[in-house]
Amino acid sequence: MEVLIRAASPADAAGIAACHVAGWQAGVAGVVAADYLESLTVADSQRRWAAGMGVADHGVQVAVVEQQIAGFTRTGVSMAEPGEAAVGRRGELRELYVRPDHWGTGVANHLHGAAIAALADSCDRAVLWVVKGNERAVRFYRRRGWRPDGWVRAESEGSHSWTELRMAGVLD
Ligand SMILES: CC(C)(COP(=O)(O)OP(=O)(O)OC[C@H]1O[C@@H](n2cnc3c(N)ncnc32)[C@H](O)[C@@H]1OP(=O)(O)O)[C@@H](O)C(=O)NCCC(=O)NCCS
Repeated sequence: MEVLIRAASPADAAGIAACHVAGWQAGVAGVVAADYLESLTVADSQRRWAAGMGVADHGVQVAVVEQQIAGFTRTGVSMAEPGEAAVGRRGELRELYVRPDHWGTGVANHLHGAAIAALADSCDRAVLWVVKGNERAVRFYRRRGWRPDGWVRAESEGSHSWTELRMAGVLD
């Protein structure tokens, strides 16, 4: 299976949105409320991604398999949390999503490598946030050297809330 990684463009918004919604629904099922997950639509997500990729340096890369977007990643600069000391040149792996029919095939690995390479261009270390209880993702990141660094945050959407853990990684 050939996996092509390339920078995303606004024309990729529909494919990215499909990966984002399906990946999120499958990845956090049983952790985030089902009615909230079921309410998410590809059309809404597509609008947000199209707008987000209209800006320079959007940091989004896609994985293409047989002419279809199978996953994406987004990287950027990490800000200090309230109460955290200045963080210097720290990057953030903001998103890494693979369509569930491509899980366990190596697509995620290609995207992870591309994200690390992009971060290493301008940063010497990086963090990411992952939903507490999303064990598949936590295992995936652990196998690639990421470790929880003790920071947690509460996230919410409407009346639904969940907890996220921060993991720190090394960009070598
Ligand atoms: C988290 C996520 C990206 C991980 O991807 P995944 O494909 O499910 O992860 P897996 O651990 O199954 O994939 C890696 C495995 O693929 C398999 N694999 C790797 N390369 C392969 C290849 N060339 N051929 C076949 N299999 C391969 C290996 O078994 C590998 O295991 P390893 O880590 O021991 O090397 C994915 O589950 C996802 O998109 N989840 C929803 C979104 C999410 O939670 N994102 C994280 C928060 S941003």
